[in-house]
Amino acid sequence: GLVRKPANFVCSISDDRGAEPTYAGVPISEIAKDEELGIGGAISLLWFRKRLPRYVSKFIELCVVATADHGPCVSGAHNTIVAARAGKDLVSSLISGLATIGPRFGGALDDAARMFAAALDGGLTAPEFVEKCKQEKTVIMGIGHRVKSLDNPDARVVLIKEYAKAHFPATPLLDFALAVEQITTRKKANLILNVDGCIAVCFVDLLRGCGAFTRREADELVSNGVLNGLFVSSRTIGLVGHFLDQRRLKQPLYRHPYNDVTYLTDS
Ligand code: ACO
Ligand code: LMR
Repeated sequence: GLVRKPANFVCSISDDRGAEPTYAGVPISEIAKDEELGIGGAISLLWFRKRLPRYVSKFIELCVVATADHGPCVSGAHNTIVAARAGKDLVSSLISGLATIGPRFGGALDDAARMFAAALDGGLTAPEFVEKCKQEKTVIMGIGHRVKSLDNPDARVVLIKEYAKAHFPATPLLDFALAVEQITTRKKANLILNVDGCIAVCFVDLLRGCGAFTRREADELVSNGVLNGLFVSSRTIGLVGHFLDQRRLKQPLYRHPYNDVTYLTDS
């Protein structure tokens, strides 16, 4: 008889075999027509395989808008600009910028969510959590910024916090992270809850509180990397912008000036 060959691939998010592609079963024509969905709705369908309430997709869109770019000086944009000026193509320049996203820059979201949630779920108070990190010599992911501080607040963080407070059923992890910020900023004014940390804790509150997921499902989404995925997706928009900008401005090969290097080679 016939032997059925097992499939090499499994996929549970999209299907292009019919007349039009579907995302989590929803045809793209319906997504395009439905004003409730938009780009945040498309992300929900592809990442969470669910149609989530409008306040959730609006929040995703807010995160995308807020973190799409942060000027030419940050690690990602810098790398993309240098690669573009070396004559590299769009994808190579983009990869060069994306490769800087990691534990210090833009890639702290998943670990921030994990650390803060473990502390709150484990019954620690904010001072106990800060003390524990200090004892263990652990950097608190989602805390600290190179240029933003109490005296120069990050407008993105303000927008995200305000949205969460206005639209989420509850914000226990955001409240915990803000209590941590109260302590860390006593040490140094730049040890604020940064944009990675703020999005991370708000997203945990959202996934746990929106009613679409069990606690376990919500936590699994975070541990699979959805939050860093959000920053990567969003910052891709800005990095493409920087590549196009360098092309448009016909910028020549970049070489770093000698006088901006401290040479430790002189005897
Ligand atoms: N937790 C605890 N202590 C910290 C933290 C933190 N997150 N960040 C800095 N510190 C402490 C340092 O240990 C140092 O203490 P010391 O003076 O006693 O030695 C002091 O603050 C200054 O540290 P620097 O490394 O000089 O701080 P810098 O301003 O260079 O670092 C950075 C900024 C890289 C963002 C850092 O705060 C950090 O690693 N934070 C965690 C990772 C993170 O959230 N990154 C995302 C940033 S937002 C974004 O990229 C979109
Ligand atoms: C960013 O969004 O790129 C940052 O917050 C990092 C920075 O230094 O501005």
